[in-house]
Amino acid sequence: MEIGSLEHRDLFCQFFVDSHIEFDAEHVPWPRLEGDARTRLVGLPFWREAVLTESTTARIVKAAAEHEADPTMRAALAIQGDEEARHSALLRSLTTFYGIDVGELPPSRSTRHVAWDYLYAGYGECFDSFFAFGLIRVARESGYFSKDLVNIFEPVIQEEARHILFFVNWVAYHRIRRHWWRRPDYDLRRAAVTALQIVNRAKTARGFGKRDENFTMKGHQEVAADISTRRFLEICLEENERRFAPYDCRLLRPRFVPGVVRRVLSLLPVQRLSAASP
Ligand SMILES: [Fe+2]
Ligand SMILES: [Fe+2]
Repeated sequence: MEIGSLEHRDLFCQFFVDSHIEFDAEHVPWPRLEGDARTRLVGLPFWREAVLTESTTARIVKAAAEHEADPTMRAALAIQGDEEARHSALLRSLTTFYGIDVGELPPSRSTRHVAWDYLYAGYGECFDSFFAFGLIRVARESGYFSKDLVNIFEPVIQEEARHILFFVNWVAYHRIRRHWWRRPDYDLRRAAVTALQIVNRAKTARGFGKRDENFTMKGHQEVAADISTRRFLEICLEENERRFAPYDCRLLRPRFVPGVVRRVLSLLPVQRLSAASP
C-alpha cells in the first residue's frame, strides 16, 4: 500500500471508525474514595489544564471535520471530535463528583486557522499521549489511583493512541498528495508546530511555566516517587508498542517522540547495582 494513496486514506479512516467504542461519559460510576486516596486525587495540580485542553481539542477537531471536503475523512474527524468532547465531559464529571474546583473556564473562541490548529493539537497529543501511556501503567502498578479509577480512564488513553495513529497517517497522506514544490512549506509548518510544542514543554520542565501543562511528562515523580526517569521512559516505550500493536501494521506509527526518547535513553547513564557485598 502506498502512503498517500486512496487505499491508504480508506485504511486509516476505516480503522478509526471501526475501533470507536461507545461509552457514557456523563453517568460514570465514580468510586467513593476515602482519606489519602481522595486527598491525592483532589490535590493533583492539573485538573483545570486537563479540562481546558480536552475542550479546546474537541473544538479544534470538530472545526477540522466541518472544513474537511473529503467525506471519508470528515466522518473519521467527526468521530474524533465527539471523542474529545467526551473526554472533556468525563473530566467535568470527575471534578464535579469529587468536588475539585477548576475555576471559571474561559469562553471557547472560534477556530480561525483550522489546519494550523489541528496540526498544533495533533503534535501536542503525540507528546502528551506517549507519556500518558507510561503514567497510567505506573499509576496502576503503584496503586496511586484505585483500580476502579484507572479502569475508567483506560478507554480514554486507548482513544488517545487511536487519535495519534490517525493523526500521523493524516499528516503523511496530506504531505504526499501535495505537489513536490509545496512539501517544504508543509514540512516547515510541521517543524514549527513541533518546535512550539517542545518549547512549551521545555519551559515547564525548567520551571518557567505552569507545571500542570507538563504533567504527563513529569507526573511519574508524583505517582510513584521511587521510579527513576530511565525506568519511566522505558515503560512509556513499552506501553507505546503495546497500545499500537492491535492495529493494522500497514498504518504508519508515531516515530518522533519515541525516537527522541530512545536517543535520550541511550545517553542517560545506566544505574548500576551498588556493590554491596563485603
Ligand atoms: Fe482527548
Ligand atoms: Fe485526542
